[in-house]
Amino acid sequence: MIRLHVPCGRRPGEKRVPLVPEQIARFAELGFAVAIERGAGVGAFYDDGDYASAGAELVGPENRARADVVLTLEGLPEEGEWKRGALLVGLLLEETDRERLAALAGRGVDTYALEYLPRVSRAQTMDVLSSQATCAGYHGAVLAASAHRAFFPMMTTAFGTLKPARVLVLGAGVSGLSALAAVRRLGAEAWGYDVRRAAREQVESLGARFLDLGIDASTPEGYARPLTAEELRRQDDGLLERLPQMDVVITTALLSGRRAPVLLEERHVDVLPPGALVVDLAVDGGGNCRLSRPDETVVRGVRRILAPRRPAAGLARHASTMLGRNFHAFLGLLVRDGKLGNVPEDPLLRATALTLGGTIVHPAFASSAPGTPA
Ligand code: NAI
Repeated sequence: MIRLHVPCGRRPGEKRVPLVPEQIARFAELGFAVAIERGAGVGAFYDDGDYASAGAELVGPENRARADVVLTLEGLPEEGEWKRGALLVGLLLEETDRERLAALAGRGVDTYALEYLPRVSRAQTMDVLSSQATCAGYHGAVLAASAHRAFFPMMTTAFGTLKPARVLVLGAGVSGLSALAAVRRLGAEAWGYDVRRAAREQVESLGARFLDLGIDASTPEGYARPLTAEELRRQDDGLLERLPQMDVVITTALLSGRRAPVLLEERHVDVLPPGALVVDLAVDGGGNCRLSRPDETVVRGVRRILAPRRPAAGLARHASTMLGRNFHAFLGLLVRDGKLGNVPEDPLLRATALTLGGTIVHPAFASSAPGTPA
């Protein structure tokens, strides 16, 4: 059997785990014997007994040194022993620099960053960014609904009629669409905004309205590019005009490989109506609101800004289930007849490999100077 090691999350606030007990049998079918660190599932409310009864071995962190494959949600580990030729697979980019990568390569560890999976249909089952963005958007919507001190739906009661909340979602990619779907289900009047023209149809298909500021900044790859000075001015003015009508703003805007764009300056927050709430889901990427402070509630007069770090972890059980499916599908690429290795050149492996056979192979880390990728 291939020895698979699942570590315990060590970052504050991390509640997810790379796989859940009911998936252990499926990993075994692929050829993996799962060893999981004690307490790894606690944040998602899976206890050690659940993993043990599903066939996993409960271990301590030192077990990593014996593992053939290690899964991680927390970047490159700095310390500890590795088996030569081991594989590290997971979410690697947040805390990865060339120096640490070179150290791992020097120990003969091959590393695969799932953030680099291309958005092609064959990779959909492995797409960690999409699975986690889906959870993040839903969590952001529910968080907004519970923190907003008013109903989301219209309420017709014997004591009068209350208007529905108006919710604007900035950024209508995977996370934004998930948030829009959730706020619609909760009965709010939903608006979506994005700088990719293709987003309009997706926003409208959810029964939300599209805020059109006359900008199209899509790239041929389907992502957004940074805005020009003229587009920024138009966005700035357009938002200033529309924000006074919004009770809740949920922000999800990201620019692949760059700092998240700042869409809300202080002046934007100040034009929101009294009682308004901003939920910034992009704070791990630097934040979409200038006032956001990670994991803090910023109170600005009678307006508030929430900025939960790792918002997908707010839905830790389903986020972990989805991660387990993503990892299972990806590891399937690396195994033939129950054994690691001898896999043919696969474009998905090539796209995600950071180090292979003792060398840094990913172009984002190829420069000779230590440092994070551009
Ligand atoms: P992302 O997480 O990189 O960005 C989130 C959203 O922020 C994007 O929709 C982007 O256009 C938007 N944004 C950037 N700057 C903005 C600004 N100034 N104002 C407002 N919004 C701004 O993107 P995500 O969610 O990963 O998706 C990007 C694209 O990839 C989409 O076209 C999506 O449909 C596509 N996709 C395709 C998949 C597939 O074919 N397997 C899977 C997932 C996504």
